[in-house]
Amino acid sequence: MTKSNEVLIFDTTLRDGEQSPGATMTHNEKLEIAELLDEMGVDIIEAGFPIASEGDFQAVSEIAKLSKSATICGLSRANYKDIDRCWEAVKHAKSPRIHTFIGTSPLHRAIPNLTMDEMAERIHDTVTHARNLCDNVQWSPMDATRTEWDYLCRVVEIAIKAGATTINIPDTVGYTAPVESADLIRRLIANVPGADDVIFATHCHNDLGMATANSLAAVEGGARQIECTINGLGERAGNTALEEVVMALKVRNDIMPYTTKIDTRKIMNISRRVATVSGFAVQFNKAIVGKNAFAHESGIHQDGMLKNRETFEVMKPEDVGLAGTSLPLGKHSGRAALRAKLAELGFDLADNQLNDIFVRFKDLADRKKEVFDDDLMALVYQNDSAE
Ligand code: KIV
Ligand code: ZN
Repeated sequence: MTKSNEVLIFDTTLRDGEQSPGATMTHNEKLEIAELLDEMGVDIIEAGFPIASEGDFQAVSEIAKLSKSATICGLSRANYKDIDRCWEAVKHAKSPRIHTFIGTSPLHRAIPNLTMDEMAERIHDTVTHARNLCDNVQWSPMDATRTEWDYLCRVVEIAIKAGATTINIPDTVGYTAPVESADLIRRLIANVPGADDVIFATHCHNDLGMATANSLAAVEGGARQIECTINGLGERAGNTALEEVVMALKVRNDIMPYTTKIDTRKIMNISRRVATVSGFAVQFNKAIVGKNAFAHESGIHQDGMLKNRETFEVMKPEDVGLAGTSLPLGKHSGRAALRAKLAELGFDLADNQLNDIFVRFKDLADRKKEVFDDDLMALVYQNDSAE
């Protein structure tokens, strides 16, 4: 299969994201998030784990019925009961997918206590079963990045022969690093018979803070599906953040010439909704969607931004759905930003008035974390009455 430059975005906010302790969402909240994901152009929505609970089953079924363009996927372990339940939930979708997985590393093989041969047989049987139900089957060797190379090749080949159409390579515990991530996918594609006929996916966790870098490296290695979540929501340190990989591919298309179908202007809205419904606030300095991602307080930065926004921003806030850059005033701010802010509030001040207000503004800013519009107006009126 000739590799296109389009990277599919597989969002698992409603499955892996919701698995974060404390992030449970209600049925209606899940439907709302699924609709927003569909509207923003996500290719595949992993809507839940239908066998996990009646609630998850209902949510996946309803999302499958309501989805307009995304493929709707459900997760299932490597047994017929899980796979059948998953199919019952996703089959209503215009484009359904069954995702089935099993842990293939030595640590994970020890849990069901299967030998390598027994596990290989289980993979063959369960993928075949899933493929008899659905044309679109994704298979994942959980903890792939800690699975022995020879065994990984063997089980990937079995899954492809049994009918898997997407092979996902999870870095379940966020253990890999970018060079290794690219290399692993590249070598799998080069060595496994049939690899050219399927799509390879990357699914990274962020335990060492490398999920985004590892996902992008996997794309360099030949992966054409990135699995991710909004705000990087997910167990422990989370999953690859959708907004980070999508914006990295857009902003650095010069060196990573891959495209996605995501309407990036919808990023902020969905980020805020996921933060609200999951109860997981976004950290202020989070890339792309943090409160400070497009905010500049220091005088040098504010002055630069007022002259040319490219001085301190590599992308436009409008491209992720924000109204614009923000220049909050604090003790590091300078005269240029104060003048611009006062002009925005309708005050056109002479230089000597601005100088007076600037002195009192600095005094106030030393005592307060941020100086708001009301504080500034009070300073201007005090100045008027003092004159
Ligand atoms: O991290 C992981 O390995 C998973 C699998 C179920 C794909 O989420
Ligand atoms: Zn995961």
